[in-house]
Amino acid sequence: MPQVADANGAAQPAVVTVHELEADPHGVFRHHRAIAPVIQRDDGSFLVLRARESEELLKDKRFCQPGAAFAKLRGINNGMLLALFDQTMLTSNGTMHRRRRSPFTRAFALRMIVALRPSIRQAAHNLLDDWAGEEVDFVDRYAALLPAHLISEMLGLAKEDIPHFTQCVYEVSRALSFTFGPEDLPAIERAAQDLYSYVTHVLETKRRRPSGDFLSNFLTDVKAAGDLSPLDSVIQVMTVIIGGTDTTRVAMAMLVGMLLEHPEQWEAVLQDRRLVQGAVKEALRFEPSVGSVSRMTTEDVAVGDYLLPAGRYVTFSVMSAMRDEAVYEKPDRFDIRRRDHPRLHPVFGAGSHRCLGEALALAELEEGLTALLERFPRLRLIEGLPRVSGHAGIRRIGPMPVRWA
Ligand code: HEM
Repeated sequence: MPQVADANGAAQPAVVTVHELEADPHGVFRHHRAIAPVIQRDDGSFLVLRARESEELLKDKRFCQPGAAFAKLRGINNGMLLALFDQTMLTSNGTMHRRRRSPFTRAFALRMIVALRPSIRQAAHNLLDDWAGEEVDFVDRYAALLPAHLISEMLGLAKEDIPHFTQCVYEVSRALSFTFGPEDLPAIERAAQDLYSYVTHVLETKRRRPSGDFLSNFLTDVKAAGDLSPLDSVIQVMTVIIGGTDTTRVAMAMLVGMLLEHPEQWEAVLQDRRLVQGAVKEALRFEPSVGSVSRMTTEDVAVGDYLLPAGRYVTFSVMSAMRDEAVYEKPDRFDIRRRDHPRLHPVFGAGSHRCLGEALALAELEEGLTALLERFPRLRLIEGLPRVSGHAGIRRIGPMPVRWA
């Protein structure tokens, strides 16, 4: 299809509405990916669709983290939500990013998480001990609880607080999606304030009575370094709680849902646990819980015939890149035995911002699935696979009733 050129001779990307993207993200991406590497959303931002360009451009120094640009794009102009977007490690650059992330890196490093695997599997079994009757909502009773229990364990949050902080997180993380409108903002802002008050209270308690857990040590380290304000410290802890709670919930539900939807693959993992890792990778590729990675252009960037002008918000669609025919054979087929996954899974982003919780998320998904296979080999879906909605940011999921008897 011939491209319409702008005054500089660059091709004009097709404009796609948020509504179209939310209605059928895979269909829209498949259609446009075959035509061009870039589309534009009707909010003015750009989406990069193909795997090769995404991989290259995510290493390119002409991109930076977006600061509060995403918030502003979505009409968030003040309050706790704006502070969160503005000061979280996720959106910050350079020295500020290092200061904000470094207090967490050791605790979430691969070797620390490897050592935690037996307790992660035990936590999964404990949750399955509580299943009663013959049916449960898998999302509420397992997929949500395992990450929430583990993040509370790692940080040193009280188990009784889980219902409160998870409810705050599920609301706040809507701000990282396209599923909210202006009418929803007051409720999301209230949840952000509640989460802020909760974390402030926890940190205050740990400051007065240090207990040797992660957050007590975090406060000591931050005080010694002297380079994070109290608000900054609270926001980084909020970020880790948000990151550690919602994304893995959706990923766990899709992992188990996709396997049950393909009974021969569920059966294969049951027979051979060496397939667990491949199942986790494939579910994260096929229906990811995070649809995109965000950046800003610091100068004009050419992508093929297209131009991403300086100072614009750019969404790297990992959802689209992970179905790119140039990388994956039959990308629309769910196949836990596929061998064409890149070495680093694209769903966790790239560079210095690559997901802090990657090792934890993989351990939760692998150990969580293994425990489930051991305990409920005859698990099945009652109403089919729930739809995961959203084309970018953190994606949403509804209930997933399962029967195990
Ligand atoms: C399947 C589960 C998960 C997925 C798909 C996921 C995905 C991502 C992605 C795409 C990013 C942005 C990377 C970038 O901009 O290049 C990110 C960042 C982050 N994630 Fe995760 N994540 C998951 C689980 C977790 C967990 C369990 C934690 C708990 C610690 C966590 C904490 C974070 C934090 C703190 C950041 C910001 C890192 C930074 O900017 O330096 N995530 N994650």
